[in-house]
Parts: sequence; C-alpha cells; structure tokens
Amino acid sequence: MKPQVSGVVSSKLRNDMLEVKFGDGTEGRLPFVWLRDNCQCPQCFSVEALGRKLLMDDLDVEVQPTEVEETMDGLMVKWSDGHQSEYSTNWLQNRSFTPTSRALHRERYALRREPWGAEHTMKNFDYNTLMSDDRVLLDWLLTMERKGSAMVKNAPKKDVAGPELIEHIAFVKQSHYGPHSPVINRPNTNNVAFTNAKLGMHNDLPQYEHMPGIIFIQCVAQHPGAGGESIVTDGLFAAEELRRNHPEDFKILSSTDMYFWDKGHANYSWEMPEFYKIAKFPVIRVNGNNEVMQIAVNNAIRDSHMDLPPQEVKKYYAAYKRFHNILYANAMTFKMEQGDMMTLDNVRCLHGREGYEANSERHIESSYLDWDEARCRRRRLQEKFGCFV
Ligand code: OGA
Ligand code: ZN
Ligand code: ZN
Repeated sequence: MKPQVSGVVSSKLRNDMLEVKFGDGTEGRLPFVWLRDNCQCPQCFSVEALGRKLLMDDLDVEVQPTEVEETMDGLMVKWSDGHQSEYSTNWLQNRSFTPTSRALHRERYALRREPWGAEHTMKNFDYNTLMSDDRVLLDWLLTMERKGSAMVKNAPKKDVAGPELIEHIAFVKQSHYGPHSPVINRPNTNNVAFTNAKLGMHNDLPQYEHMPGIIFIQCVAQHPGAGGESIVTDGLFAAEELRRNHPEDFKILSSTDMYFWDKGHANYSWEMPEFYKIAKFPVIRVNGNNEVMQIAVNNAIRDSHMDLPPQEVKKYYAAYKRFHNILYANAMTFKMEQGDMMTLDNVRCLHGREGYEANSERHIESSYLDWDEARCRRRRLQEKFGCFV
C-alpha cells in the first residue's frame, strides 16, 4: 500500500545511511547508527519519561538494516542485531538532518540573537501585565532572547518585586548575596557595587562558574540630582566588532582564562556569613562553533592573580582595553525612574552606573533568573499558544 502524501515515499540504502524522500518532496539522509540508537519502540524508549532506555552497551556502531519497509505512517526497519523498529514520518522529518530541520531545532534550543548598538531602545513592558498575561510574558521572553534587554515599567515599590516576577516565571537564581540584593551605599560593604562609587560597565557575578543568566535591576528609589545614571551595552555586538576588526585580540580574549574572585562576609542575615569564590574562564567564551556564548567583564571582580607567563600580560591588557573601548563606543545611557526594572541578558549585555552622593536615598534591587528556566518557560508558552518555531 502506498503511503499518504506526507509519508515516506521512497528510501534507499547508501553509505551507512538511509536516504528517504518524504511525500512533500523533501529528502533526508538518516545514518543507520542514529536510527537504531533512536528506535522509538517501548523496549528502547520510554514514552512516559520521554527518554532513551537503550544502553550504549547494546548499540552496535556498525549496525545495518536487513529490511526496510515504507508503512502507512513512516518506516519499519529490521536490523542486523535482530531488532525491529518503527518510525513515524513526522518524527523522522523533524530530525532528518536537513538544514531546515537542524535550524528549527536550533531555534527551539535558543533564539537567534540580534546584536545592537548605541541607537538601541529597549522595549517596554508593564509589571502587572507580565504577571497576569502569558502572551505578554512570552513576548518579554522572546525579546530577552533576541535583544538581551527590556525595560519593565511600574514595578511595585518593594524590595522583592524582582523575585516575585522571577517566581512567576520560574525560580530565583541565588548567590551568596541571597535571593536579592539591596544596591545601596552600605557601611562595611562586601561589594564595590554596594557603595556610591561609579561602576564601569560589567556583567554580574563572574565569580560564579555558572554566571546568572538574566539580571533584574529594579529602581526602588532614584538619586534626585545628577548621578546614578545607567549605561548599558551589547557585549555580543562588541565581541563581533572585535572579531571582525581585531581578530588577534578576539583570539586572546576568547582563549585566555582569567580568574574572578569574591571574598567577604555578610552585610545582611540572608547573605552567606563568609564567602570565598574563585572562578576561571575567558572574558569572551565561545562554543564549539566559535559562537560567542558569554561575556564576563567586571573590573571589581577580575582577580589580580593571572595564570600567565609575565611576557604575555601586556598583550592581554592591550586586547582587553580594545574590547573595553568598543563596549563604550556602542553604549546607551539613561536614568532609571522609580518603578523601572531593567532586565538584561547578564551573559551578553553589560551595565554600569554613574557615582552619586554618599547619603542618597537611591535604592536599587538586583535579582537573577537562569537562562535554562527562562528558555524552558518560553518553549512551554510557545506550545501553549501554538506558535512554536
Ligand atoms: C550592581 C549594579 C547598578 C546600579 O549592583 O551590580 O550594577 O544602577 N548596580 O546601581
Ligand atoms: Zn526498539
Ligand atoms: Zn551590576
């Protein structure tokens, strides 16, 4: 019997792969070992747990089909190890190793980021609407993945407005500073940020091997006079500029590990009494495809220890300074108002602030959400609204 239009209409074996043609004209090449590894029968795969039961012990990398049959809904394959598998057309087509199927899953994993420069304006969202309307929440999640930045307006004047919004999305990423941090001029402070000093643009918490993904910077009260202004830049944009115009410097910053550290004591009861963190990774972190995955710039937290031969140090500083200059050349400045909550991709965008008078009423609160949880919520909301990419 001939399969339906959407079914597999033909298949042939070539070079350890099954070449299939689907009813809609698209084609895919499916490696034998991958097909056998991903058998969907109850013995090999748990439909309840959505996980593979087949063990590597039982997978023969040289496995070959002995029989392939096109069925109503897909394919049946008999294998040289005696096993028999069935696959639905949809399932196969979604994973058919074509540029389209690979690109679709790449977007399901993480949306393509859109770098921006100084002309950027952040999209505004209303705090209560984010809490009550999942379509708007999805828009915020999409915006955060693509632009790495958004402004939430009308946050309630309380210190836990950030954590409450984060709890509505998933859960708070804690640090040794607790679930949220009052950014005020603290006596006996445990961080340069918790003073009235000017802060150069930075990413928060690079002293953690796993830096927090998204930072929520809430303005509970702003300094009334000059001072306390914010400055924000897209580290991804700057890193790509550096890669294009100074490839040697990009290479240095993406391949040289730096130490980041933080040692101190609690200012508040919810902070860890005594902490001493050291993390180590490059300022620009790239993945296996050489895509920029993380920026870690923080002058207060960057360690004075450098695991380098001394003759390489000046060259490192020159590359770092070049990156710094590009970050600043493409930054935007503004002043947050009470009720504003700036949300930034903390492993991509950098933020800083102007200094302000020592005894100011200025009060910022910061809290964090991890990207794993944000993307997880985005995927579920896309499913809910039927708009999965
Ligand atoms: C921080 C910080 C920004 C501000 O606390 O890490 O960047 O505007 N604060 O005070
Ligand atoms: Zn099986
Ligand atoms: Zn900060």
